[in-house]
Amino acid sequence: MRCAIVSDIHANLEALEAVLEDIRNRGIREIYCLGDLIGYGPNPRECIDLAMRHFKVTIMGNHDQAALFDPEGFNSSAESAIFWTREQLESRGNPRQNEKRWEFLGELPRRHQEGEFLFVHGSPRIPLNEYIFPEDIYNRRKMERIFQLVDRYCFVGHTHVPGIFLESGEFIEPADLSGGAYQLPDQKVVVNVGSVGQPRDGDPRACYVILDDSAITFCRVPYDVEKTIEKIYRVPALDNFLGDRLRQGR
Ligand SMILES: [Fe+2]
Repeated sequence: MRCAIVSDIHANLEALEAVLEDIRNRGIREIYCLGDLIGYGPNPRECIDLAMRHFKVTIMGNHDQAALFDPEGFNSSAESAIFWTREQLESRGNPRQNEKRWEFLGELPRRHQEGEFLFVHGSPRIPLNEYIFPEDIYNRRKMERIFQLVDRYCFVGHTHVPGIFLESGEFIEPADLSGGAYQLPDQKVVVNVGSVGQPRDGDPRACYVILDDSAITFCRVPYDVEKTIEKIYRVPALDNFLGDRLRQGR
């Protein structure tokens, strides 16, 4: 299996376009997406259109679900962004295209299993909403329960913090791999692929993963962050903080 795995695009068109180009340049054709196409960012329609065209599989994220139904447990800037996103998808642009996008979002699966590989947005236990943070390696009980639900390899997003969780209790940061490929070991593994459109590990570049048989590589792609920030500033319903954090990757 040779593919790219992306997640948490959050309506950031500049980041998504840069990542798609990077994937194309590497000759990779299959792209899996772990959800949160929308929410926070200024280009929800464009990002859904690219997802429909380019992704082989897209999983539902909590922000995708919030746009479809109701935002629960969101802070006020995330909630305001969701209501604005919904308005963009409902009342702007071509009605037929709007309908197609809603249908696509509504039919997204919550999990996808392919051979030894499981794909979810948050965690195998609570697919849309559970966070698995790096510090959870110290919460043995939580990690044991999560690994019980993994056959072999599980790919997640949701925290926007890339890295590899080993069943033995370690967390490997991409920085430990210095840009090289990591051969998945002979034990259960959960890989967080990071975020395309809103990285939160202190590196503002878009993040995604390449899976090549059982080796994974974390890829970072620079994009025009200032252009995205400018768009966010121009929309009153999108908190300026949502732009500022892109510059810092926080
Ligand atoms: Fe997200």
